[in-house]
Amino acid sequence: MTPLDGQVALITGGARGIGRGIALAFAEAGADIAIAEVDRLPSASQQYGEAQIGGFAGAQQTVREITKLGRRAVAIQADVSRKTETLRMVEDTIRQLGGLDILVCNAGVVSLSPVETMSEESWDIAMAVNAKGVFLSCQAAIPHLKRKGTGCIINIASVAGKNGAPGMAHYCASKFAVVGFTNALAKELAPDNIRVNAICPGILRTQMWEYLADNMKQPGEPKEDAWNRFVQMAIPLRRPQTPADIGRLAVYLATAENVTGQAINVDGGMEMH
Ligand SMILES: NC(=O)c1ccc[n+]([C@@H]2O[C@H](COP(=O)([O-])OP(=O)(O)OC[C@H]3O[C@@H](n4cnc5c(N)ncnc54)[C@H](O)[C@@H]3O)[C@@H](O)[C@H]2O)c1
Repeated sequence: MTPLDGQVALITGGARGIGRGIALAFAEAGADIAIAEVDRLPSASQQYGEAQIGGFAGAQQTVREITKLGRRAVAIQADVSRKTETLRMVEDTIRQLGGLDILVCNAGVVSLSPVETMSEESWDIAMAVNAKGVFLSCQAAIPHLKRKGTGCIINIASVAGKNGAPGMAHYCASKFAVVGFTNALAKELAPDNIRVNAICPGILRTQMWEYLADNMKQPGEPKEDAWNRFVQMAIPLRRPQTPADIGRLAVYLATAENVTGQAINVDGGMEMH
């Protein structure tokens, strides 16, 4: 018997990176998995180079990996910044996998810009995906979790949701929003036995940091050197975190019956309290 036997988890943005790490950890813990992903994200060109971001093809690949672990898994096309799509993503999960026990709001985007020259578009997409996407995904799932009389929501925030970073004010604002939203929602849903927590990762070499290292390197500095410089400078333990690290905490939170309203760092000591 594994800790998440018989449970169904829906993970937004679970094709790659942190979401994929959580999906694999949940599958190993016995859960069936729905992955909600997007193929085209208007105005995502800053992080992805183009609006076509291939998330759904990535989700299908992750689904194949999960199936090999002996769990059921489905890929669902959904842009979390659109209400009709988050409603359908939850309905599709329940229709295809028979229920919903755990929601992980992981989908996120990043871009770099000083506030003085930041475009409205950069601000809007950070807020639409990172903050509104969490709200809409939770809103769509809540009635189903309430009907079950139990449930777990895990929102992926960031250390940037607790401490600002220059050039990322819009991203930080969206992640501070996720931490505050998680705190409030935990209080709102505690009487329904639904637990709501956030995970605050530090620095992981996912597609997100491929973009950041590329764009934060100094003139003439190789990308690898820039990456190593950030890791050494920012992380007291001097090593990046991994999607498997985040997956382990997510499995713990999914099973921790008396933990709610927390925003827990997995950051090698970047943010200490
Ligand atoms: N990588 C890090 O160092 C780091 C640190 C702290 C927090 N985070 C957060 O972790 C989460 C996952 O990031 P990652 O590092 O794995 O990045 P990633 O770019 O590898 O993965 C993000 C996934 O979200 C999907 N996505 C983007 N917009 C979407 C939308 N509108 N609807 C559905 N899916 C969408 C993308 O297709 C992608 O697969 C994000 O919320 C990010 O802000 C990452």
